[in-house]
Amino acid sequence: MRVIAIDGPAGSGKSTVARALAAALGLQYLDTGAMYRAVTFAVLRSGGDPGDPDTAAATARSVELDIGLDRVLVDGFDATLEIRGPEVTRAVSAVAANPAVRRELVARQREWARQRGGGVLEGRDIGTVVFPDAELKVYLTADPAERARRRAKEVTDLDYETVAADLARRDALDSNREVDPLMEAGDAVVVDTTGLDIEGVVTSVLALLKENTDG
Ligand code: DC
Repeated sequence: MRVIAIDGPAGSGKSTVARALAAALGLQYLDTGAMYRAVTFAVLRSGGDPGDPDTAAATARSVELDIGLDRVLVDGFDATLEIRGPEVTRAVSAVAANPAVRRELVARQREWARQRGGGVLEGRDIGTVVFPDAELKVYLTADPAERARRRAKEVTDLDYETVAADLARRDALDSNREVDPLMEAGDAVVVDTTGLDIEGVVTSVLALLKENTDG
C-alpha cells in the first residue's frame, strides 16, 4: 500500500501540494479536514450542538460521507460550500477534539486507503496516527501572516483580520488538544512554504520520493 501523508496547519499549502502529488503519482487524494467539517455540518444541520460529545460521536458513526475531489456529500446532501462556511469553521475544532469522533474518522480513513491500495491523505495527524508507516511524510508550515493571507484570498467574504484571528484560534485549539494534536512526526520532511511557490514545493517533494524509492 502506497500512502503519502501531508500534515500541517491551515493555510500551509497542504491541499494544493497533496492534490498535485496525487495527480503526479496516479494516486487518489483524501482531504481528512473535509471529513471533520462534514461531521460538524451534519450536527448543525440536525439542530444539534457540535460541542456535545455524545451528539457529535453518534453523528460521526451514522453519517454517510462522500468526500470527492471537488464535491462533498453529507447524507446525500451537497455540502461542498457549507463545510467551508463560517458556522462550520467556528465549530469544527470542538468536533475534531472529540476522541470518539476521531476514532471513527481515523477508521474510515484507513479503510479508504485500504480499498484503493493507498493514496495521498492530508490532515493534522496522518503521519503521526492514521498512517505512522506512510512511505513519505511531509509536514508543511508557513508563517501565520502568510497562512492568513492565503486563506483570506480563498474566503472572499471575510476580511484579513477576521481570517487571521480565526486561524490563530484554530491553530491553538488543534495544537493543544489532548487527543492527536497537530504535531510533526519525527520522521517527517518539514517544508516551510513561506515565500515559496507551490510548484516548487511539489517538485522538491517528488524528488525526495524518488530518492527514497531509489535508495
Ligand atoms: O484542514 P481544515 O482546516 O479543513 O481542517 C478542519 C479542522 O479539522 C481543523 O480545525 C483541524 C481538524 N482536523 C483534524 O483534527 N485532523 C485531521 N486529520 C484533519 C483536520
